[in-house]
Amino acid sequence: MVDISTSLSGVKLDNPVIPASGTFGFGYEFNDIYDINILGAISIKGTTKEPRFGNPTPRIAECTAGLINSIGLQNPGIDKVISEEIPKLRTIYRKPIISNISGFSIDEYVECCEKINAVKDVDIIEVNVSCPNVHKGGMSFGTLPENVEAVTKAVKKVTTKPIYIKLTPNVTDIVSIAKACEQGGADGISLINTSQGLRIDLKTKRPVIANKIGGFSGRAIFPIALKMVYQVYEAVKLPIMGIGGVSCAEDVIEMMLAGASAVQVGAENLVNPFACRDIINNLPQVMEKYKIKSLKDIIGEAHK
Ligand code: FUM
Repeated sequence: MVDISTSLSGVKLDNPVIPASGTFGFGYEFNDIYDINILGAISIKGTTKEPRFGNPTPRIAECTAGLINSIGLQNPGIDKVISEEIPKLRTIYRKPIISNISGFSIDEYVECCEKINAVKDVDIIEVNVSCPNVHKGGMSFGTLPENVEAVTKAVKKVTTKPIYIKLTPNVTDIVSIAKACEQGGADGISLINTSQGLRIDLKTKRPVIANKIGGFSGRAIFPIALKMVYQVYEAVKLPIMGIGGVSCAEDVIEMMLAGASAVQVGAENLVNPFACRDIINNLPQVMEKYKIKSLKDIIGEAHK
């Protein structure tokens, strides 16, 4: 029997597979197609202080081995997420919940994190300083180490739950950003969010997406994500949730060898809604194939 369990800052996970925020709704939507209690955890839809309708359509462009999105943080706002969405998820789901928070100012991050910290059903807060699809806030916080440190310090002051900062790959030096998270007192790091991309429609000769540029994700970005997880693991002592192009059990193992303690699955949920279930089911046999007894033992092994 192999051991597929892991943990994040003291939060125990039955397995490392977590649907990434924005690709799995508030979780309960997927319970109609499989029992979501098999998941390691769920990172629920990114939440802002106010409700948001999101960006104009079209918001999605297909690409080779991936897709570009520009959703624009569509969500019902923090108060409704707390009063309706999380309680609805809890009626059917017993495993850890990760709440993903976005903001347009430090005050907004602080207000939302303080509110979500008071929700007993939330286990980890993922602070998204990396959304590429809003003109203010989002990724603009995640591209400068001093901004990342300031947001991290500010939310740490009003929270007691583990704080994971979700980073953008759209930077020249991911290590300096990760170090700023550590300096600010973060408990962990989620990386990577989407990489900026563009498609042009040959018929209209205009960008496919109404907002023009969006966030590129999917299988094509896996090596980029893996490289960044590897680099960040070497540079900081914080646990990492590895994200980016993960589509199979082998990818999960690679991410953990690079240094991830757990792994989020994003765009693949949009290609195959059963992706997380299939990965979890396949993990034991892939581990046996590569003579891995316990996933916890292989975290960062590629660095030895
Ligand atoms: O457009 C979006 O809602 C994307 C969010 C993100 O990538 O963080």
